[in-house]
Amino acid sequence: MVSALYSWFPSMCTAFCITFFSFILLFSLLIFVLRLKKAWCSCEICQAYLTSSWTKDFDNLCDWFTHLLKKSATGTIHIHVLGNTITANPKNVEHILRTRFENYPKGKPFAAILGDLLGKGIFNVDGDSWKFQRKMASLELGSTSIRRHAFDIVNSEIQSRLLPLFSSISGEQRALDLQDVFQRFSFDNICKFSFGLDPGCLELSLPVSEFAEAFDLASKLSSQRALASSPLIWKLKKALNLGTEKRLKQAIKMVDTLAHEMIKQRREKGFSERNDLLSRFMETINDDKYLRDIVVSFLLAGRDTVAAGLTSFFWLLSQHPEVESAIRDELESVVGSSDDHHQPLPSFDQLRDMHYLHAALCESLRLFPPIQFDSKFALEDDILPDCTSVRKGTRVTYNPYAMGRMERIWGPDCLRYKPERWLENGRYVPENLFKYPVFQAGKRDCLGKEMALVEMKSMVIAIIRRFNIRLLYPNKTPRFTPGLTANVRGGLPFLVQGKGKIHAQ
Ligand code: HEM
Repeated sequence: MVSALYSWFPSMCTAFCITFFSFILLFSLLIFVLRLKKAWCSCEICQAYLTSSWTKDFDNLCDWFTHLLKKSATGTIHIHVLGNTITANPKNVEHILRTRFENYPKGKPFAAILGDLLGKGIFNVDGDSWKFQRKMASLELGSTSIRRHAFDIVNSEIQSRLLPLFSSISGEQRALDLQDVFQRFSFDNICKFSFGLDPGCLELSLPVSEFAEAFDLASKLSSQRALASSPLIWKLKKALNLGTEKRLKQAIKMVDTLAHEMIKQRREKGFSERNDLLSRFMETINDDKYLRDIVVSFLLAGRDTVAAGLTSFFWLLSQHPEVESAIRDELESVVGSSDDHHQPLPSFDQLRDMHYLHAALCESLRLFPPIQFDSKFALEDDILPDCTSVRKGTRVTYNPYAMGRMERIWGPDCLRYKPERWLENGRYVPENLFKYPVFQAGKRDCLGKEMALVEMKSMVIAIIRRFNIRLLYPNKTPRFTPGLTANVRGGLPFLVQGKGKIHAQ
């Protein structure tokens, strides 16, 4: 036995030495390549980024960027190790999104980062493929009659699912997560509207949605790729199927299953006479992978954004009861008694007359934009209006989150939640969109903006008219997890008290 051990020992030592030195060699090679790729920089900002020392003072990367952007005289900063120029300067934003739009596509690096999740969907492509999808989607989302159709879908979801759900738990000491409710609600709506299918996520029994979880995870892990100091890191992990990349692969597999199921169901139900978005695309496209990519982009566009917007709005409302009573007053003047829950919900036209509500939502989105930042890649060398030079291939990011918190844009009370800022003589007055790029602006602005606002307004009215929402932790400021859209970490638990029993219709 002992002699056997003695004979094994030298070969074990050799194996250990080979493994150890190969590891050191590989590691040194990696550092060398990273340096070559400019993934190393000793400036203060890059060091804080690389060592994560910013986390000592800031909870969220966007808060740190906001701090740096506020300090910068031009409102523009550089994270050299990420090859990223970040701006909160409205003139630069206009330059990138409109004046020199052709020079700032999404670009290949992003197509790679988000490619596994979004494929060739509208969010992830440029050129002809983008033009084609934008044209098709504009037809679907652009007209007033379609918006009325969206309004009907939202109202039916509210009447048949949301109100009965809230009614059933009202007065009970049972907490639900508001963010989760909103995600389920907007998931049902976007599926009904875009694909003519009803996943029934907001059923009273509230089944755990594996798909929704997979979606969140895939979006979170995909966006984390963009934060790596070199794409080599995530590409290597992907090739070896390790850690976050392994989890991302599994999550995307689940998302694929959902998307293919939707396409299959749509095909079985027939699509030639339907006018939902998926049917429109299916008339011209046979490729199921391409259809899957389109489906995923629209799920992402319509679900998380609306849910994130509503979640922060209800948190702000819990801090500002005066805003809630101003909305109730407006409701009363537009549709009659705001507390009479037998009254039907406001009509599409009545909603348009609710200027204060519109202002309250825009103001909430200013402070908590669902998409906190968005990046493009420069095709050619350029100079931004604030004289920042941009080298070909640089990632250029505009940051609506920071912009909403800049004194030089919104004045000394920029951090105050103040819907009145958007009103003149009681009427809503839109702001310069490059100062407020919450829905992006310029040639690639959000196609679902009107639909999203209709959805959010209907939801707010339906809830505050019939229920009192009591957050379990009203004093806890929401903390956002990084992702393609902002998610409140830990959700927003609440209790509900109703003003009467509502039954499913
Ligand atoms: C509060 C809710 C919403 C916000 C804040 C929002 C914001 C945005 C932003 C910032 C973009 C640009 C993203 C990028 O290029 O990377 C965008 C694009 C887009 N949004 Fe929205 N969105 C919302 C809701 C919706 C809804 C409900 C839809 C409906 C389907 C929608 C459809 C789209 C589409 C199709 C694009 C792509 C436009 C293009 O690339 O040409 N959005 N949105």
